[in-house]
Amino acid sequence: MGVVENAKLTVVGAGSVGASLAYAALIRGSARHVALYDVNTAKVDAEVLDLAHGTPFVGSSTIAGGDDLAVVEGSHVVVITAGAKQEPGQSRLDLAGTNVRILEDLLPKLLERAPDAIYMLVTNPCDVLTVAAQKISGLPSNRVFSSGTVLDTARLRWLLAKRAGVATSSVHAHIVGEHGDTEFPLWSSANVGTVPILEWAHGQGFRREELDQIAAEVRDAAYRIIQGKGATNHAIGLSGARIVEALLGDESAVLPVSAVLDGVHGVDGVALSVPSIVNSSGVTPLGETPFSDEERRKLHESADALRASIASLGI
Ligand code: LAC
Repeated sequence: MGVVENAKLTVVGAGSVGASLAYAALIRGSARHVALYDVNTAKVDAEVLDLAHGTPFVGSSTIAGGDDLAVVEGSHVVVITAGAKQEPGQSRLDLAGTNVRILEDLLPKLLERAPDAIYMLVTNPCDVLTVAAQKISGLPSNRVFSSGTVLDTARLRWLLAKRAGVATSSVHAHIVGEHGDTEFPLWSSANVGTVPILEWAHGQGFRREELDQIAAEVRDAAYRIIQGKGATNHAIGLSGARIVEALLGDESAVLPVSAVLDGVHGVDGVALSVPSIVNSSGVTPLGETPFSDEERRKLHESADALRASIASLGI
């Protein structure tokens, strides 16, 4: 399709995540036009007004929105952030029943108004909701996906960079699998600069136990932040804006987003994050990413955990 000129992004849900994603998209110029939709009139009107007051300080992006679904019309990308959020100690999978029901009501209404858009789920559990969204919408898997482990990968890169004393842009490492408790790092293909992470000896180097500790810190990051401030929003907002840029800019960027897999590393019919090409056609999971035997096993464990949740919901 190529670079989308004069593109429109609609963020559905004006809660802390949706408002942060709209804010990040305005500052980064992720889309020429940003719209925000929510059923809560007072909230969405206030968020749109507050964001609009800041537009003299950003590029040429515009912000509009409200409680009328007409807001969604003409969108090239629709990002869904609406739904219940994790309470302290609650897992993302605990939200599945409530948020699938919200999606079953909302998605058909969005598709009526934006039938040609690419749909990205941020609402959790985003992998389960991606499977539900594809079944509800009938869209091909490249046009309905979730932000997956893009945020988890950013958390991993930040921690590794801090520990190795290098720029985050020099850390090449991915978290894959569920955006949740069964996620895991692809250590076998992780590098600091051109040095495989397991061979990085600058300073003290990384011992395996330390890498395991870092992976646990990434996996549990959201619980820690939610305990302290009630929700995560800034980093997921920036992660979502980054993915939108790859879509609308036709970048073919490799990002660990989550789409329903069709035989990638032997996984079928479940949405999980693997490194994927993201461009104006949507998402194409990369089947060629090498996985060690341990990593392939963990991917299937992640798939099994999600399959159990999907089955329990009767999706
Ligand atoms: C987090 C939420 C977005 O990981 O799931 O912060």
